[in-house]
Amino acid sequence: MGNTVDITPFYHGPTNSWSYIVADSTSRVCALIDPVMDFEIASGKVHPGFANQLLEVVEAHGLSVEWVLETHIHADHLSAADYIRGRTGARVGIGIGVHAVSQLFEPVFNLGDRHPDVSEAFDDLFEAGQTIPLGSSLITVMAVPGHTPACVAYRVSEAVFIGDTLFRPDYGTARTDFPGGNAGELYASIQQLLALPDDTMLYLCHDYPSHPQSAPQASCSVREARDNVQLQAGDMNGFVRFREHRDTELDTPKLLYPAIQINLAAGRLPEPELEQQRFLKLPIFVDP
Ligand SMILES: [Fe+2]
Repeated sequence: MGNTVDITPFYHGPTNSWSYIVADSTSRVCALIDPVMDFEIASGKVHPGFANQLLEVVEAHGLSVEWVLETHIHADHLSAADYIRGRTGARVGIGIGVHAVSQLFEPVFNLGDRHPDVSEAFDDLFEAGQTIPLGSSLITVMAVPGHTPACVAYRVSEAVFIGDTLFRPDYGTARTDFPGGNAGELYASIQQLLALPDDTMLYLCHDYPSHPQSAPQASCSVREARDNVQLQAGDMNGFVRFREHRDTELDTPKLLYPAIQINLAAGRLPEPELEQQRFLKLPIFVDP
């Protein structure tokens, strides 16, 4: 599996998200996984405060950022991928299923020519099983669809960055009610992760601490993940019934439309219009 890696997790409190620096121990080459861009919906303010914290650590350790890897098109935060690409020259990659996500959202935004072209926005679209060089280490791409069709996990050394599949064992699993989501596929993807060796560490994309005072959890072992509270129905049918019912009770994420619109462009903001002002498009739904 190659060399060892050093993993530094960063928690983005406003969106309960984890971003990671994954550095090859010998070459000091690194990848940033799911870096978050700060965004305040009320004011429309976008700023790279959190992403800069990652870059400060990169610089302090003399690392060179070769990759920004997205596990999927996030619906609850903006990606800082394009910002980090601009600062470091890193390549930005995501699973090839992003084509399907893009097509599903095309009619939602109706942006015409301005709809993001994912082949152009991302430098690499990964197939399942593809390997990504990271210094003397190799990252292997695992397709883990279900939450979205683009979901991939990144396996390197004894660690896997699992995106939105499993959360903390006592919290549960990812929702599957976004366009292209599928509870049966998520079940199969989770089984693929749980079949990994017991001591493999799974790095989460989110954690939602039960109490404001509790520290968020970044990872758990495969052994611990097998006790996930939402996997106790035993088989796929039981999980699908549970997941689909649970999804009917969930609220739409606050940043869904801004996040998908910008993240399909790998975090690149829309081109400025009037007086250098940038705009997003927001669909509205009128109850008859
Ligand atoms: Fe997600």
